[in-house]
Amino acid sequence: MRSGKSVLLIIGGGVAAYKALLLIRLLKTAGIGVRVVLTRAGAEFVTPLSIGALSGEKVFTDLFDLTDEAEMGHIQLSRAADLVVVAPATADLMAKMSAGLAGDLATTLLLATDKDVLIAPAMNVRMWEHAATQANLATLRARGVAVVGPDEGDMACGEYGPGRMAEPEAIFAAIQEKLEESRIDLRGPGAGAEAADLRGKRIVVTSGPTHEPIDPVRYIANRSSGKQGQAVASALAARGAEVVLISGPVRLDAPPGVERRDVETARDMLETTLAALPADALVCAAAVADYRVADAADQKLKKADGAGRSLNLIENPDILATVSALPEGERPRLVVGFAAETQDVIAYASAKRERKRCDWIVANDVSQGVFGGDENRVTVIDADGAEDWPRMGKDAVAVKLAERIARALT
Ligand SMILES: Cc1cc2nc3c(=O)[nH]c(=O)nc-3n(C[C@H](O)[C@H](O)[C@H](O)COP(=O)(O)O)c2cc1C
Repeated sequence: MRSGKSVLLIIGGGVAAYKALLLIRLLKTAGIGVRVVLTRAGAEFVTPLSIGALSGEKVFTDLFDLTDEAEMGHIQLSRAADLVVVAPATADLMAKMSAGLAGDLATTLLLATDKDVLIAPAMNVRMWEHAATQANLATLRARGVAVVGPDEGDMACGEYGPGRMAEPEAIFAAIQEKLEESRIDLRGPGAGAEAADLRGKRIVVTSGPTHEPIDPVRYIANRSSGKQGQAVASALAARGAEVVLISGPVRLDAPPGVERRDVETARDMLETTLAALPADALVCAAAVADYRVADAADQKLKKADGAGRSLNLIENPDILATVSALPEGERPRLVVGFAAETQDVIAYASAKRERKRCDWIVANDVSQGVFGGDENRVTVIDADGAEDWPRMGKDAVAVKLAERIARALT
């Protein structure tokens, strides 16, 4: 526990429980200790065995486990950590917290703790929007409970809307913020080396789609959600980097600890990126439109009696190539591009790296639900060859990429 700080993580019984495993890894990487309490329902989704292996600590499940009570009483367990985090916070846990129930270990700890509490709600959209849940949320907020998420998006149950648990990086950033709020400097002397190995480095990340206007109400866009770029920005910030995130229009909140500059078109994104330099590294994860409408209309276009209409498209400036071609001193030391391809991924991506003269290309096959989804399968291509990464969550891709960037810059 190299930062000397620790979190008590309560994992409730929701589909998002698997994301708590990634959160444990982020916390451990940052040198933050994590002790886990798993609810009975939580244990239906993730096992004490995998949690114990990741946290390196015994996992607590039962209020009446006498060994634990002898070693560490439940009151002490609720107070030993610097912060209590509930992720996923089920509708049930939120209701019990709001009512002050204490029928099991998790709820007893939540009632007995004298520490700040941060919850990451996760549930079906109807459960989230239900007046009971919203009333419980308001009660908890009024009592000073901090809330991260939920995000809006496709749900495991097939519905769409708010209720998805915030990504592990966002929860991690919220935890850092809470710990910093209580004047605990995670990045101060004694913090884990990996927690701060990008401290003093400035990194610019582009993310999301661009919107290219056709007229004042219509535009050309693409399916990029911005999740991968935002996850990269969060993972870099978690390692201590000063991160400027230049984002096209997305439905995500700006990640904590990151300065987000919102743009609309490819030309805005180029201008804002150049203005954000100098930087040690640039990560171009945005899905920038290749073309824009040459003569976007000032007034809304009207139908013209069944006649067809064609749009005259011209090429947009290329941000990755422009920055890669900057003279030494102005060009970031490391320029990383993303290549979304649907076929011959490695061949196209390698050619893109050569053509655009960037240092690395993170190639991803977007033919199968990557846009908008939570997982990605990437190959990182640099001057030495291609490194194939297994399919994993976008947040895990971001953490791995941040590690690689830290190794390259330090
Ligand atoms: C497959 C499945 C998925 C579930 N996912 C959620 C969920 O995402 N959020 C939620 O609030 N409840 C969810 N539930 C219901 C909770 O598991 C149930 O309310 C349970 O009592 C919660 O216990 P806990 O709050 O002590 O963990 C799910 C149940 C099942 C069977």
